[in-house]
Amino acid sequence: MDDFVRIVEVGPRDGLQNEAQPVATADKIELIRQLSLTGLRTIEATSFVSPRWVPQLADAAEVYAGIARRPDIAYPVLVPNEQGYDRARAVGVSEVAVFTAASETFNRTNTNAGIDESLARFAPILERAKADGVKVRGYVSTVLGCPYQGEVAVSDVVRVARALHDMGCYEISLGDTIGVGTPRKARAMLHAVAAELPMSALAVHFHDTYGQALANIDACLEEGVRVVDSAVSGAGGCPYAKGASGNVASEDVVYLLHGIGMRTGIDLPALAATGRWLAARLGRETGSKAGKALAAA
Ligand code: HMG
Ligand code: MG
Repeated sequence: MDDFVRIVEVGPRDGLQNEAQPVATADKIELIRQLSLTGLRTIEATSFVSPRWVPQLADAAEVYAGIARRPDIAYPVLVPNEQGYDRARAVGVSEVAVFTAASETFNRTNTNAGIDESLARFAPILERAKADGVKVRGYVSTVLGCPYQGEVAVSDVVRVARALHDMGCYEISLGDTIGVGTPRKARAMLHAVAAELPMSALAVHFHDTYGQALANIDACLEEGVRVVDSAVSGAGGCPYAKGASGNVASEDVVYLLHGIGMRTGIDLPALAATGRWLAARLGRETGSKAGKALAAA
Protein backbone atom coordinates (compact mmCIF):
# COMPACT_ATOMS: atom_id res chain seq x y z
CA MET A 1 0.00 0.00 0.00
CA ASP A 2 1.04 3.59 -0.59
CA ASP A 3 3.35 5.06 2.02
CA PHE A 4 2.05 8.64 1.71
CA VAL A 5 -0.17 9.85 4.53
CA ARG A 6 -2.19 13.05 4.20
CA ILE A 7 -2.49 14.99 7.42
CA VAL A 8 -5.67 17.03 7.79
CA GLU A 9 -4.62 19.83 10.11
CA VAL A 10 -7.65 20.73 12.23
CA GLY A 11 -5.93 23.05 14.70
CA PRO A 12 -7.44 26.35 13.54
CA ARG A 13 -10.93 24.78 13.86
CA ASP A 14 -11.02 21.87 16.35
CA GLY A 15 -8.02 23.30 18.16
CA LEU A 16 -9.51 26.72 18.78
CA GLN A 17 -13.27 26.03 19.02
CA ASN A 18 -13.02 25.10 22.71
CA GLU A 19 -10.43 27.64 23.80
CA ALA A 20 -11.43 29.37 27.03
CA GLN A 21 -9.68 32.65 26.27
CA PRO A 22 -10.43 34.79 23.21
CA VAL A 23 -8.02 34.34 20.30
CA ALA A 24 -7.56 37.37 18.05
CA THR A 25 -8.70 37.01 14.46
CA ALA A 26 -5.23 38.16 13.35
CA ASP A 27 -3.65 35.32 15.34
CA LYS A 28 -5.92 32.76 13.68
CA ILE A 29 -4.92 34.10 10.28
CA GLU A 30 -1.25 34.06 11.27
CA LEU A 31 -1.59 30.45 12.48
CA ILE A 32 -2.99 29.40 9.10
CA ARG A 33 -0.26 31.36 7.29
CA GLN A 34 2.44 29.55 9.25
CA LEU A 35 0.78 26.15 8.76
CA SER A 36 0.60 26.85 5.02
CA LEU A 37 4.41 26.98 4.93
CA THR A 38 4.97 23.53 6.50
CA GLY A 39 4.00 21.30 3.57
CA LEU A 40 0.48 20.57 4.82
CA ARG A 41 -2.01 20.08 2.00
CA THR A 42 -5.24 20.36 4.01
CA ILE A 43 -5.88 22.93 6.72
CA GLU A 44 -9.36 23.10 8.25
CA ALA A 45 -9.65 26.82 8.67
CA THR A 46 -12.75 27.52 10.78
CA SER A 47 -16.45 26.74 11.30
CA PHE A 48 -19.54 28.49 10.04
CA VAL A 49 -21.66 27.21 12.93
CA SER A 50 -23.96 29.26 15.11
CA PRO A 51 -21.89 31.92 16.93
CA ARG A 52 -24.17 31.40 19.95
CA TRP A 53 -23.11 27.75 20.10
CA VAL A 54 -19.41 28.35 19.38
CA PRO A 55 -18.52 32.00 20.07
CA GLN A 56 -14.82 31.17 19.65
CA LEU A 57 -15.30 30.91 15.89
CA ALA A 58 -17.79 33.75 15.42
CA ASP A 59 -15.16 35.47 13.25
CA ALA A 60 -15.20 32.64 10.65
CA ALA A 61 -15.89 34.97 7.71
CA GLU A 62 -13.11 37.39 8.69
CA VAL A 63 -10.64 34.55 9.22
CA TYR A 64 -11.43 32.91 5.90
CA ALA A 65 -11.32 36.20 4.01
CA GLY A 66 -8.00 37.03 5.67
CA ILE A 67 -6.14 33.91 4.56
CA ALA A 68 -3.70 34.26 1.65
CA ARG A 69 -4.95 31.02 0.15
CA ARG A 70 -2.56 28.89 -1.86
CA PRO A 71 -3.88 26.92 -4.80
CA ASP A 72 -2.08 23.74 -3.66
CA ILE A 73 -3.73 23.76 -0.22
CA ALA A 74 -7.35 22.96 0.63
CA TYR A 75 -8.93 25.06 3.39
CA PRO A 76 -12.17 23.26 4.33
CA VAL A 77 -14.59 24.72 6.88
CA LEU A 78 -17.34 23.12 8.99
CA VAL A 79 -20.95 23.85 8.09
CA PRO A 80 -23.85 22.47 10.17
CA ASN A 81 -26.71 23.56 7.91
CA GLU A 82 -27.57 25.54 4.78
CA GLN A 83 -27.19 28.81 6.66
CA GLY A 84 -23.58 27.87 7.36
CA TYR A 85 -23.12 26.85 3.73
CA ASP A 86 -24.48 30.23 2.56
CA ARG A 87 -22.12 32.09 4.90
CA ALA A 88 -19.17 30.00 3.73
CA ARG A 89 -19.96 30.45 0.05
CA ALA A 90 -20.33 34.20 0.53
CA VAL A 91 -16.61 34.39 1.31
CA GLY A 92 -15.59 31.98 -1.45
CA VAL A 93 -15.17 28.68 0.41
CA SER A 94 -14.57 25.78 -1.99
CA GLU A 95 -14.57 22.84 0.45
CA VAL A 96 -16.87 22.22 3.40
CA ALA A 97 -17.30 19.52 6.04
CA VAL A 98 -20.61 18.36 7.46
CA PHE A 99 -20.73 16.60 10.81
CA THR A 100 -22.93 14.14 12.62
CA ALA A 101 -22.37 11.28 15.05
CA ALA A 102 -22.85 7.59 15.66
CA SER A 103 -24.54 8.45 18.96
CA GLU A 104 -27.99 9.99 18.94
CA THR A 105 -27.59 11.74 22.32
CA PHE A 106 -24.26 13.31 21.43
CA ASN A 107 -25.59 14.55 18.12
CA ARG A 108 -28.57 16.18 19.82
CA THR A 109 -26.29 17.84 22.36
CA ASN A 110 -23.91 19.05 19.65
CA THR A 111 -26.33 20.13 16.94
CA ASN A 112 -29.82 20.07 18.43
CA ALA A 113 -30.82 17.36 15.95
CA GLY A 114 -31.03 13.59 15.80
CA ILE A 115 -28.73 11.69 13.44
CA ASP A 116 -31.29 11.19 10.69
CA GLU A 117 -32.47 14.77 11.04
CA SER A 118 -28.88 15.95 10.58
CA LEU A 119 -28.45 13.74 7.51
CA ALA A 120 -31.62 15.30 6.09
CA ARG A 121 -30.12 18.76 6.74
CA PHE A 122 -27.04 17.77 4.75
CA ALA A 123 -28.89 16.54 1.67
CA PRO A 124 -29.54 20.03 0.22
CA ILE A 125 -25.96 21.07 1.10
CA LEU A 126 -24.59 18.10 -0.86
CA GLU A 127 -26.85 18.90 -3.79
CA ARG A 128 -25.84 22.53 -3.88
CA ALA A 129 -22.18 21.68 -3.37
CA LYS A 130 -22.26 19.38 -6.38
CA ALA A 131 -23.74 22.11 -8.53
CA ASP A 132 -21.24 24.65 -7.14
CA GLY A 133 -18.19 22.41 -7.58
CA VAL A 134 -17.61 22.41 -3.80
CA LYS A 135 -16.04 19.34 -2.19
CA VAL A 136 -17.73 17.95 0.92
CA ARG A 137 -16.09 15.95 3.69
CA GLY A 138 -18.19 14.16 6.32
CA TYR A 139 -17.47 13.59 10.00
CA VAL A 140 -18.86 10.82 12.17
CA SER A 141 -18.29 11.59 15.86
CA THR A 142 -18.30 9.27 18.89
CA VAL A 143 -17.12 6.26 16.85
CA LEU A 144 -15.46 4.62 19.89
CA GLY A 145 -17.67 5.89 22.70
CA CYS A 146 -20.11 8.60 23.70
CA PRO A 147 -19.91 10.87 26.75
CA TYR A 148 -23.64 10.42 27.33
CA GLN A 149 -24.57 6.92 26.21
CA GLY A 150 -21.24 5.10 26.72
CA GLU A 151 -20.65 2.23 24.29
CA VAL A 152 -21.41 2.88 20.63
CA ALA A 153 -22.21 -0.04 18.34
CA VAL A 154 -19.86 -0.43 15.37
CA SER A 155 -22.94 -1.06 13.22
CA ASP A 156 -24.10 2.49 14.03
CA VAL A 157 -20.75 3.88 12.89
CA VAL A 158 -20.96 1.89 9.66
CA ARG A 159 -24.52 3.03 8.99
CA VAL A 160 -23.75 6.73 9.41
CA ALA A 161 -20.45 6.59 7.50
CA ARG A 162 -22.21 4.84 4.67
CA ALA A 163 -25.03 7.38 4.61
CA LEU A 164 -22.54 10.26 4.33
CA HIS A 165 -20.64 8.48 1.57
CA ASP A 166 -23.80 7.63 -0.35
CA MET A 167 -24.81 11.28 -0.12
CA GLY A 168 -21.61 12.29 -1.90
CA CYS A 169 -19.04 13.05 0.81
CA TYR A 170 -15.66 12.29 -0.79
CA GLU A 171 -14.08 11.40 2.54
CA ILE A 172 -15.46 10.27 5.88
CA SER A 173 -13.53 11.16 9.01
CA LEU A 174 -14.12 8.74 11.88
CA GLY A 175 -13.88 10.69 15.13
CA ASP A 176 -13.04 9.40 18.59
CA THR A 177 -14.47 12.62 19.98
CA ILE A 178 -13.67 11.93 23.64
CA GLY A 179 -10.51 9.91 23.12
CA VAL A 180 -11.69 6.76 24.87
CA GLY A 181 -10.64 4.27 22.18
CA THR A 182 -7.82 1.76 22.37
CA PRO A 183 -5.88 0.28 19.43
CA ARG A 184 -7.61 -3.05 18.83
CA LYS A 185 -11.03 -1.51 19.16
CA ALA A 186 -10.05 1.35 16.85
CA ARG A 187 -8.71 -1.08 14.27
CA ALA A 188 -11.81 -3.29 14.45
CA MET A 189 -14.06 -0.26 13.99
CA LEU A 190 -12.07 0.88 10.94
CA HIS A 191 -12.09 -2.65 9.54
CA ALA A 192 -15.88 -2.79 9.80
CA VAL A 193 -16.32 0.54 8.03
CA ALA A 194 -13.77 -0.39 5.36
CA ALA A 195 -15.71 -3.57 4.64
CA GLU A 196 -18.47 -1.30 3.28
CA LEU A 197 -16.60 1.75 1.97
CA PRO A 198 -13.28 2.17 0.16
CA MET A 199 -10.38 2.68 2.58
CA SER A 200 -9.23 5.54 0.33
CA ALA A 201 -12.41 7.42 1.36
CA LEU A 202 -11.73 7.10 5.10
CA ALA A 203 -9.81 9.21 7.61
CA VAL A 204 -9.25 8.83 11.35
CA HIS A 205 -9.63 11.61 13.92
CA PHE A 206 -8.40 10.94 17.44
CA HIS A 207 -8.55 13.02 20.58
CA ASP A 208 -5.91 12.15 23.15
CA THR A 209 -7.88 12.22 26.41
CA TYR A 210 -6.47 8.91 27.65
CA GLY A 211 -3.12 9.07 25.84
CA GLN A 212 -4.14 6.42 23.30
CA ALA A 213 -4.24 8.48 20.13
CA LEU A 214 -0.83 7.61 18.63
CA ALA A 215 -1.28 3.92 19.39
CA ASN A 216 -4.73 4.06 17.79
CA ILE A 217 -3.35 5.81 14.72
CA ASP A 218 -0.57 3.23 14.34
CA ALA A 219 -3.13 0.42 14.52
CA CYS A 220 -5.33 2.14 11.92
CA LEU A 221 -2.32 2.69 9.62
CA GLU A 222 -1.71 -1.05 9.78
CA GLU A 223 -5.31 -1.55 8.78
CA GLY A 224 -4.62 0.66 5.74
CA VAL A 225 -5.91 4.16 6.46
CA ARG A 226 -3.84 6.94 4.83
CA VAL A 227 -5.55 10.13 6.03
CA VAL A 228 -5.10 11.31 9.62
CA ASP A 229 -6.64 14.38 11.30
CA SER A 230 -4.60 16.14 13.97
CA ALA A 231 -4.09 19.57 15.53
CA VAL A 232 -0.82 21.43 15.87
CA SER A 233 0.36 21.61 19.50
CA GLY A 234 -2.42 19.19 20.47
CA ALA A 235 -4.92 21.99 20.95
CA GLY A 236 -8.61 21.49 21.15
CA GLY A 237 -11.73 19.55 21.94
CA CYS A 238 -15.44 19.75 21.34
CA PRO A 239 -17.35 22.12 23.65
CA TYR A 240 -20.38 19.79 23.53
CA ALA A 241 -18.47 16.61 24.44
CA LYS A 242 -18.06 16.41 28.18
CA GLY A 243 -14.52 15.30 29.02
CA ALA A 244 -13.09 15.79 25.53
CA SER A 245 -9.52 17.02 25.62
CA GLY A 246 -7.09 18.00 22.92
CA ASN A 247 -6.65 16.47 19.52
CA VAL A 248 -3.62 14.34 18.94
CA ALA A 249 -0.73 16.73 18.18
CA SER A 250 0.18 16.97 14.49
CA GLU A 251 3.89 17.14 15.34
CA ASP A 252 3.67 13.82 17.23
CA VAL A 253 1.79 12.18 14.36
CA VAL A 254 4.35 13.38 11.80
CA TYR A 255 7.20 12.17 14.02
CA LEU A 256 5.52 8.74 14.22
CA LEU A 257 4.89 8.60 10.48
CA HIS A 258 8.43 9.58 9.48
CA GLY A 259 9.79 7.17 12.07
CA ILE A 260 7.94 4.23 10.52
CA GLY A 261 9.07 5.23 7.04
CA MET A 262 5.94 6.93 5.76
CA ARG A 263 5.92 10.18 3.81
CA THR A 264 3.90 13.26 4.67
CA GLY A 265 5.59 16.08 2.75
CA ILE A 266 5.67 17.99 6.03
CA ASP A 267 8.66 19.90 7.43
CA LEU A 268 8.52 18.69 11.05
CA PRO A 269 10.77 21.38 12.61
CA ALA A 270 8.66 24.09 10.91
CA LEU A 271 5.43 22.48 12.13
CA ALA A 272 6.83 22.15 15.66
CA ALA A 273 7.87 25.82 15.64
CA THR A 274 4.31 26.77 14.64
CA GLY A 275 2.97 24.63 17.49
CA ARG A 276 5.21 26.41 19.96
CA TRP A 277 4.20 29.78 18.53
CA LEU A 278 0.51 28.91 18.99
CA ALA A 279 1.07 27.64 22.53
CA ALA A 280 2.91 30.85 23.41
CA ARG A 281 0.00 32.93 22.06
CA LEU A 282 -2.32 30.86 24.25
CA GLY A 283 -0.02 31.36 27.22
CA ARG A 284 1.01 27.75 27.76
CA GLU A 285 3.52 25.09 26.78
CA THR A 286 2.98 23.17 23.58
CA GLY A 287 0.90 20.04 24.05
CA SER A 288 3.17 18.19 21.61
CA LYS A 289 5.94 16.04 23.05
CA ALA A 290 7.79 16.08 19.72
CA GLY A 291 7.39 19.86 19.68
CA LYS A 292 9.04 20.12 23.10
CA ALA A 293 11.81 17.67 22.27
CA LEU A 294 12.67 19.44 19.01
CA ALA A 295 12.91 22.77 20.85
CA ALA A 296 15.40 21.26 23.28
CA ALA A 297 17.42 19.40 20.62
P1 HMG B 1 -30.27 25.63 16.67
O1 HMG B 1 -30.30 26.56 17.82
O2 HMG B 1 -31.17 24.43 16.69
O3 HMG B 1 -30.46 26.41 15.29
O4 HMG B 1 -28.76 25.15 16.48
P2 HMG B 1 -31.69 27.11 14.62
O5 HMG B 1 -31.70 26.72 13.17
O6 HMG B 1 -32.93 26.93 15.43
O7 HMG B 1 -31.26 28.66 14.70
C1 HMG B 1 -31.13 29.33 15.95
C2 HMG B 1 -30.31 30.60 15.76
O8 HMG B 1 -28.99 30.28 15.30
C3 HMG B 1 -30.89 31.53 14.72
O9 HMG B 1 -30.54 32.85 15.11
C4 HMG B 1 -30.10 31.19 13.47
O10 HMG B 1 -30.02 32.27 12.58
C5 HMG B 1 -28.73 30.91 14.04
P3 HMG B 1 -31.58 33.82 15.84
O11 HMG B 1 -32.71 33.95 14.87
O12 HMG B 1 -32.02 33.09 17.11
O13 HMG B 1 -30.80 35.06 16.08
N1 HMG B 1 -27.95 29.97 13.20
C6 HMG B 1 -26.76 30.27 12.63
N2 HMG B 1 -26.01 31.39 12.67
C7 HMG B 1 -24.85 31.37 11.97
N3 HMG B 1 -24.42 30.29 11.27
C8 HMG B 1 -25.15 29.17 11.21
C9 HMG B 1 -26.37 29.14 11.93
N4 HMG B 1 -27.33 28.19 12.07
C10 HMG B 1 -28.28 28.73 12.85
N5 HMG B 1 -24.71 28.12 10.52
C11 HMG B 1 -26.97 24.42 15.06
C12 HMG B 1 -28.41 24.22 15.47
C13 HMG B 1 -26.56 23.23 14.24
C14 HMG B 1 -26.87 25.70 14.24
C15 HMG B 1 -26.10 24.55 16.36
O14 HMG B 1 -26.36 23.45 17.17
C16 HMG B 1 -24.63 24.59 16.07
O15 HMG B 1 -24.14 25.54 15.49
N6 HMG B 1 -23.89 23.55 16.52
C17 HMG B 1 -22.46 23.46 16.26
C18 HMG B 1 -21.75 22.84 17.42
C19 HMG B 1 -20.30 22.70 17.06
O16 HMG B 1 -19.75 23.45 16.28
N7 HMG B 1 -19.63 21.70 17.66
C20 HMG B 1 -18.24 21.47 17.41
C21 HMG B 1 -17.96 20.93 16.05
S1 HMG B 1 -18.21 19.17 15.91
C22 HMG B 1 -16.74 18.48 16.57
O17 HMG B 1 -15.94 19.19 17.14
C23 HMG B 1 -16.44 17.02 16.35
C24 HMG B 1 -15.37 16.79 15.27
O18 HMG B 1 -14.16 17.42 15.60
C25 HMG B 1 -15.13 15.27 15.11
C26 HMG B 1 -14.88 14.56 16.43
O19 HMG B 1 -13.97 14.96 17.18
O20 HMG B 1 -15.61 13.61 16.66
C27 HMG B 1 -15.84 17.33 13.91
MG1 MG C 1 -12.68 16.63 16.97
